[in-house]
Amino acid sequence: MSKGLTDNNTGESLTAVRGRLLWFTGNPFQQSRSDCVRYEEDGIILMDKGKIVACGAASDVSEQMPETVKIDHFPNRLIMPGFIDAHVHYPQVQIMGAHGEQLLDWLNKYTFIAEKMYADTDHAKANAQFFCDELLKNGTTTAATFCTVHPQSVDALFSAASKRNMTMIAGKVMMDRNAPDRLLDTPELAYDQSSALIKKWHGKGRALYALTPRFAPCCTPEQLMMAQALRGEFPDVYVQSHLCENLDEIAWVDELFPDHDSYLTVYDHYGLTGPRSLYGHGIHLKQAEWQSLIDRQTTVVHCPTSNMFLGSGLFDLERTQNAGHEIPVAIGTDVGAGTSLSLIKTLSEAYKVAQLRGATITSLQAFYMITLGGACALDLDKNIGSFDAGKAGDIVVLNPKATALLQHRMQYVENLEDELFVLMTLGDDRIIEATYTEGVKQYACG
Ligand code: GUN
Ligand code: ZN
Repeated sequence: MSKGLTDNNTGESLTAVRGRLLWFTGNPFQQSRSDCVRYEEDGIILMDKGKIVACGAASDVSEQMPETVKIDHFPNRLIMPGFIDAHVHYPQVQIMGAHGEQLLDWLNKYTFIAEKMYADTDHAKANAQFFCDELLKNGTTTAATFCTVHPQSVDALFSAASKRNMTMIAGKVMMDRNAPDRLLDTPELAYDQSSALIKKWHGKGRALYALTPRFAPCCTPEQLMMAQALRGEFPDVYVQSHLCENLDEIAWVDELFPDHDSYLTVYDHYGLTGPRSLYGHGIHLKQAEWQSLIDRQTTVVHCPTSNMFLGSGLFDLERTQNAGHEIPVAIGTDVGAGTSLSLIKTLSEAYKVAQLRGATITSLQAFYMITLGGACALDLDKNIGSFDAGKAGDIVVLNPKATALLQHRMQYVENLEDELFVLMTLGDDRIIEATYTEGVKQYACG
């Protein structure tokens, strides 16, 4: 049991959650089950002002708890660290499931039209609130999110997330070419607006800023230089963008940046890679690009529902897990090209993508990627991703028998791994019974 309870605590600020606890202490791609998974059939997470102070078997933790502590008890429910969505676009929720195009046509036909609407502050506020509520309903407590080019779209998102005490990595999209005029900024404007937003939001509560050059085709070299300058000035902010998602996109990058021998070299050249740099997709990478990801420890975000929906291709997840040559990897829904805000459904598609490649992933590997693995890839593992003492009480409560079908199917599972695999294959937002951020219940079903 991990302990951190102080002797002089009167118990007034303590809260607890009880049930079947499951969390990771290591990486199931690299380590054996016993070295990386913790499971307590009847466990308690004890929190003080939203921070975990003890976690373990109920019989042990209850011994050191004042009797007055309020316990939210969820018998027979699986309880895990809050889920992490490492790549999502909140303004695109309104165009999810738009028919018929691959990436570049999809951007022109649907995405840019929707994003223009975020010049309107009220529209941005309403959609940001809806988005955060939907994340919580899906068990997601942390997200790396693209806004639009409009600073008010960023204010709206950080405000909505902070009201719900969610960890939100987000930023104003930087784009100064190859999009409709009303969606373009300039390098100077991008600099001024991004630096003002960083000063206003980065590190405030759980808000973290990400410089967000949309992707190389929408950014001039001058714009990428501005992003580089901002990174130099604010070294602990994140960078998020897109990389090698679609073959036409890659050919376009070759045309626009003829002096660079690959897509990733463009971002490398402008200092936009390395830790705290998050790149969606990475499907069609050359050998040198894989090597750069390893060398610089740049994070790739696997977005399977999006990649299937836009017909972009099949991500080689296995290649990120070569022992001694690992690449930080996380999972993203990539809504609105992604077809669900549920990370549970997204894991199911990640498994199918692996199958189509002649590979596989286990249920433990899958759940690792949306909890501790995601936290590591986002450089947030000091604060979230597991139930270790000192981390935030971000918690999701799952009902493994939430539907008639699950109730039926669960009679025949033989062990925890099977149960988790069935859950990710047949589950969706209906299995989320409650979601907590820093110990406070933010969502309860029904
Ligand atoms: N590449 C550039 N912008 C986007 C976007 O909004 N969605 C996806 N999936 N890829 C992109
Ligand atoms: Zn995206």
